[in-house]
This record gives sequence, C-alpha cells and structure tokens, in this order.
Amino acid sequence: MTTHEIRQKYLDFFVFRGHKLVPSASLLPENDPTTLFTGSGMQPMVPYLLGETHPKGTRIVDAQKCFRSQDIDEVGDNRHTTFFEMLGNWSLGDYFKKEQVAWMFEFLTHELRLDPYRLYVTVFRGNAQVPRDEETVGYWKDAFASVGVSAKDVDFSKRDGMQGGRIFYYDEKKNWWSRSGSPEKMPVGEPGGPDSEMFWDFGIERGLHEKSAFAKDVCHVNCDCGRFAEIGNNVFMQYKKTATGFELLPKANVDFGGGLERLASAVLDDPDMFLIDVFHLAREVIEQKSNTTYSSLGHASLGIAQRASRPTGEAHRSYAFRVILDHLRAATFLVADGVFPSNKDQGYYVRRLIRRAVRFANTIGVQGAFCGAVAQAYVREYTAAYPELAEKEKTIIEELTKEETKFKASLGKGLKEFEKLFTRSSAVSGVDAFNLYQSYGFPWELTEELAREHGQKIDRAVFQSEFSKHQDLSRSGSGQKFAGGLADHSDKVVRLHTATHLLHQALRSVLGSHVQQKGSNITPERLRFDFSHPQKMTDDEKQRVEAIVNEQIKKDLPVHFEILDLDEAKRRGAIGLFEDKYAQLGGKIKVYFIGGDVSVESFSREVCGGPHVEKTGELGRFKIQKEEAVASGVRRIKAVLD
Ligand code: ALA
Repeated sequence: MTTHEIRQKYLDFFVFRGHKLVPSASLLPENDPTTLFTGSGMQPMVPYLLGETHPKGTRIVDAQKCFRSQDIDEVGDNRHTTFFEMLGNWSLGDYFKKEQVAWMFEFLTHELRLDPYRLYVTVFRGNAQVPRDEETVGYWKDAFASVGVSAKDVDFSKRDGMQGGRIFYYDEKKNWWSRSGSPEKMPVGEPGGPDSEMFWDFGIERGLHEKSAFAKDVCHVNCDCGRFAEIGNNVFMQYKKTATGFELLPKANVDFGGGLERLASAVLDDPDMFLIDVFHLAREVIEQKSNTTYSSLGHASLGIAQRASRPTGEAHRSYAFRVILDHLRAATFLVADGVFPSNKDQGYYVRRLIRRAVRFANTIGVQGAFCGAVAQAYVREYTAAYPELAEKEKTIIEELTKEETKFKASLGKGLKEFEKLFTRSSAVSGVDAFNLYQSYGFPWELTEELAREHGQKIDRAVFQSEFSKHQDLSRSGSGQKFAGGLADHSDKVVRLHTATHLLHQALRSVLGSHVQQKGSNITPERLRFDFSHPQKMTDDEKQRVEAIVNEQIKKDLPVHFEILDLDEAKRRGAIGLFEDKYAQLGGKIKVYFIGGDVSVESFSREVCGGPHVEKTGELGRFKIQKEEAVASGVRRIKAVLD
C-alpha cells in the first residue's frame, strides 16, 4: 500500500460516511494574522469550529499540507519532519465520540489492516474543570472487544510503564489539544478540548527504547524513544477559552488529525519514516550526488545536547539524509505556495531550510548543485496529489538553486572570517564557533577541523550551551511566530517596536477604545500591526495618527517599564495582550510606559516583554505605508521610520 493509496483510502472512507471532501488550504494561512504557517488540518476550520456555518455542511474531510517551523531542530531522528500531510475529518456539531472512535478503529484495522494488538490509545484523565473522559474509554473498549482484544486501563500517573495495558490516561499536557497547547497556554477565544490519541507499536523486540537517550526512564506510549508512533489524534473540541476559564462551544465538534507519513510507516511497520515511498526518488538523488547510500542506522531519538554535537560516522550520514529529505520537501511545497527565500517573514524559514540542507549535504560529500534535482524528484512524486507542484516546477527549481548558490558564496565568506579570527585572537572560543554557525552556517565539525589544523581545540561545551540557548529562544517563539512578534533585537527592530506602542495608542485616540492589538510582526525594515476596527481608515484618520506619533517622538519621551500585579496593571490602564507570555514574570506582568511621571499621565501603558528604546527621540520620522483589511473586523498597518 503506497502513501498515496493510504491518503485516498482515508478520503474515500469518510466520503462514504457522508463527509464532503475539501482541498488542502495553502501553507500560508489566509485571514489569520496570528500564525505564519498552516500547522494543522484544523487551522482553516477554526471559524467553523467556533460556530460559523460551513458551506459544505457538517461533515468535512481533507488532506492538509502542514508546516511546523518549531520542529526544524527536531529533524534528524527517525520520525520528525517540518512538512507533513495531515489527514483530517470534522464533525461540526454532527456525530461525536461514539462514531469517531468506531470509524477510526475500523479504518486502522480494516482498511489499513493494522494489527489491533499493536495499537494503543490515550485518553484525558480529567482535571478540576473537565472530567475524565470515561465515555471515550468505553467506546475504545467496545472497538477492541469487537476483534477479540481486551483493552486494559493504565494510569500512567503511577509512572510504572505499560502494565500490560492498552488504554492510557494522561493529563492536559498530553491529552488536551488546542493550537497553543495545554489549557493555560490558550489565548482567550481559542477553541480546544480533551483528545484521544492512537499509537502504533513498532515492537519491544527492536530494542529502540534501550538504544535511545531515554533508556534510563520507563517506556510508555508517549515516551520519545521511537518505539511508539502517534498515528492520529481525535480532538473532542467542545470548549472555548474565556477570560475566566472555559465555556462550551455552541456545538460539540470532532477534529481528527492523523499524520499521513506516520500512518504509512506504521503500515510499512518500519520505525524509520524516511523509508516510506514518498521519499524514494529524492533519496536516490542524494545517494547519487553524494556517492553514498542511506541506511536507517541513525539515532532513533536524540537529546538536545546530542543534536548539537551531531552523531558521527554512518549515524551522522542517516541524520544528514533525513535533514536534507525533510527540508527540501518543505521548501518545495512552500515555494509552490508562493513563499520565496528571504530574510523576513515566512521567507526566512524557506531560506533556513535550504541553508541547513546545503550544510548537511556538505558533510556527506554531496558534489555540485543538488537542491534543484531533489526538488524535481519531489515534484514528480507529488504531482498527482498536488498539481500545483507541476505548475510551479520552474519557479521551485529556480528559487532553490538561487538560494543554494547564494549560501555557498556566504560559506566562502565565512571561511575568510574564520581565517581572520585566527589572526585577531590567539584562541577561538566556543562562542566564536557558534557565531560562525549562526552567521555563515558553519557547522561545528568544520570549525573544529579547521581549528585542529591550527593546533587549537575549541570548547565544545560552550558551543553546545550557546546552541541550546538559541534553541530555547526559537522554541519560545511558540513556533509559529517570531519571539514576541520581533524578528530580532537589532536597533532597527527595537525602534520600530517602540513606534508600534505609540501607534497603538494613537489609533485608540483617533478611532476609539475598541482598537485592540490582533497581531504584531516587526522586521528591521518595517512594523506590521493588526488591530480591531470595522472599516477602512480615512486619509484624514491616517494623517492624524501619524501626526500624534510624530509629536510623541518629538517630545523625546522617556520609556520605562514596571513589573506589576495583574490587577494593578489593569487599574493603571495598561492595554495590550495580558496573556503575552513574554511579559509574564513569576505571576506578575511587565508593563512599558512611554512618557509620564508622578505628576503627568503617560502617553502609553502597554503590557509587553520588550525591548524598547530609552527615549522616543531615537525613533526618527514615523510614516504609515499601507492600511488594509486582513480579516473581517481586523485591519493591518505597515509603517516605517525614516
Ligand atoms: N488538530 C489536531 C492535531 O493537530 C487533530 O493534532
């Protein structure tokens, strides 16, 4: 059974059960300023899960292209990818737990012929607000019993492994789904609910757990050792987050998502997902260009420290193959959806994907240009399912090749920088090595080897700690967004960040206090601010806003922050996103004030993680470049500082 056949079987199965098939949405979310990429099948469904009527009815099925930028550093083990296809079916206030569980079980065991003895499921164990999901447990027991398998419970809170059980209970960290994660991370208005996940067991006899970085812990279905793969998630999406807790959505929905590639590797019964058919053609290209062969010997799972140091020898080769295979597949699909490599917004990720692929290709001896040829292999593989790839083939190959060439030139510059380091300083530090990696894409191995030629040993621990710090930072960007909406902390970005606060307050002064921030994204070139307002701004309104901002700049107002209790912040009139996690500090919240002292009211008070300039006089002249709609009731301003 090929991956394409599995996709088709799934779509047919649910169409037969009254679902309407919808095409995959773009990887670039439309009308959703909160995320950069489509990262799950439900994302384009959010309005309907919240109660809007779907034009096609109450049962929907699709296969959705997804990209999860936050997983970029996870790639290299046997099962993580940044791009994947998510099979999805939705009940919009139609059927619920009973049908979903029975159908999924039938699909897995009957259509895909997966052995029920190797299937495991998890359910939500309940908390103070939402009860344990007994109903779903009952349906799973019935389903397993229908094929003669008795499904025993395991309470994993006891942390003592599998206990011969098949149904596992976990808390909201594992068995609750929303786009932002567990309940406390959800912003107000976000839909979510308890979920029930399904796992495939690749078998204890492979010894994956014992060989993994998690060997000292007890193995269970959610263990990261690679023995179990999550092959699907049934979310019972019943709740919407409110300022005080949760309220029930108008209708109880089902949101199912299953990773197509994971399902294919369960069908193949091989824990190395990169062995499934969709990677074959691309893998052959890399094998040919590197004059090596892929083996799935690589680490099943790697801890962060191991990832930073990279495995060596044959294990390194499989790691590198996987990075190249994943990254260039993602880049191919992203370019097809109109995202070109650049240093800003979504384009930044395409650039990063291609550059990482080139770096890893270097380490396995790939000769000459290769990105275009790998992309071409993917176009061939996926054209029947995603015709847009064939339509955009020329552009895809051009864009990937252009970036590859540019990066190779930059690596050359990095080499010069490296030589300079040796003439400037007597010892190259781990921090220098990390900077070379960051700025020029210089891999650790290369820096180390050159350094060795100069008779030097670089402190690997320092490099690793910088690497982990950087990784934590990019993770804290909640994956989908730049950290706090800022591309970096350069002077230009910081100035535009302060200008954004002035703009926010000026908009409220001119348009009214209904104006609230809906999104913010700042690069060194411009600020982008999304806010609630029902109609297009008039020229006069735009001019007044500009004039107010420039007036505050001219006053050269001081900027300072205070760490306040939530109530105190509200009492003092702070505006902004109270749930902003960058502004949270040990139960308190950071509020930035622009202007004001004990006798004079400040111009702006806004919840924010920073950083900002010290005085508004540093900003220069503020100019609105564009004002446009992004969604119903949400406007977007792009502005610059001259
Ligand atoms: N939306 C759910 C997920 O992405 C199904 O796992």
